[in-house]
Amino acid sequence: MSITLSGGLDQDFLETSAQLASLKAWKPNMYYIPNREIHYYLGHKITIEESIDSYGAMIWPAAVALCKFLETPEGQQQINLLDKSVLEIGAGTGLLSIVATLLGAKLTATDLPEILSNLTCNLNRNTRQVHRHEPQVMALSWGHELEETFPHSTYHYDYVLAADVVYHHGFLTELLVTMRHFSQPGTTLIWANKIRYPSDLIFAENFEKAFHATLIAELDEVRIYKATYKSPGESKAVNRTIKEKGVEDKGKEDEEEDEKNKACENCKNDMMMEKKKEEHNHREHQGDSEHQTLAGAAIQGAIKISHGNM
Ligand SMILES: C[S@@+](CC[C@H](N)C(=O)[O-])C[C@H]1O[C@@H](n2cnc3c(N)ncnc32)[C@H](O)[C@@H]1O
Repeated sequence: MSITLSGGLDQDFLETSAQLASLKAWKPNMYYIPNREIHYYLGHKITIEESIDSYGAMIWPAAVALCKFLETPEGQQQINLLDKSVLEIGAGTGLLSIVATLLGAKLTATDLPEILSNLTCNLNRNTRQVHRHEPQVMALSWGHELEETFPHSTYHYDYVLAADVVYHHGFLTELLVTMRHFSQPGTTLIWANKIRYPSDLIFAENFEKAFHATLIAELDEVRIYKATYKSPGESKAVNRTIKEKGVEDKGKEDEEEDEKNKACENCKNDMMMEKKKEEHNHREHQGDSEHQTLAGAAIQGAIKISHGNM
């Protein structure tokens, strides 16, 4: 039923106008063009160069989920990065490190040496002139020369961030050792991960044994854990697991390696297929424009779009 209001406007028209206005006000916080993703966090446009050549050259779901969480009031209450010394391990393209820098962290992003040039470019391009503390980049291979490169006497972090560092790879023990190396009294470890494989759950169990861990959020199928230091006495069980694993695993290593490589390939193929599908849908529905139009908004289901405040 249409109600005529004073001034001659009717209710139907007002509803349509309101819908149009809200559509116009609607803006995605991320859209994708080949080899580049544009995200919006904290009122900043973040441009990420990526490729599908390696795991570290793509943005993974846990980085996106954790960035979204860091924008929410609850996220900011749980995790306050302002003027804190923050280390990211397995930083990949650097999206999370960029958001942490924008939140005022004194940030060091780390990854394997071959990932660092793209990581440095993304980090510099997106934080230049807007950072409170200039972000740093360092090579860090999990479990490798930790005390030599990052001695406890010099390096202490308030926060250690890790997003989607657990998937099918052969360095889960080294990863846990690395997390333990950087978790000292006073350090908070934030680990976000999408759980994909049974081995991810085993890692989560070991993680809970190694730290005082709390699941603080689950967002877009990504678990976000907050964890603090457990003394060697408290985490005896996991120390034993790490030690015994080293011995027991020797025999099983070859068998498992094949299985992992297969799963790893599947995982990588899934990501590539997902990206190609997105690219295809994006081209079909949106053309080359960088700006999201009303028509683009209508096809939000077809491309990877997320809202920062969800
Ligand atoms: C799945 S990607 C996640 C990247 C990023 N954190 C994100 O969520 O978009 C895993 C990251 O861990 C890094 N990585 C894998 N194995 C590593 C190792 N042994 N030592 C250090 N980094 C490693 C990869 O280079 C990659 O950047």
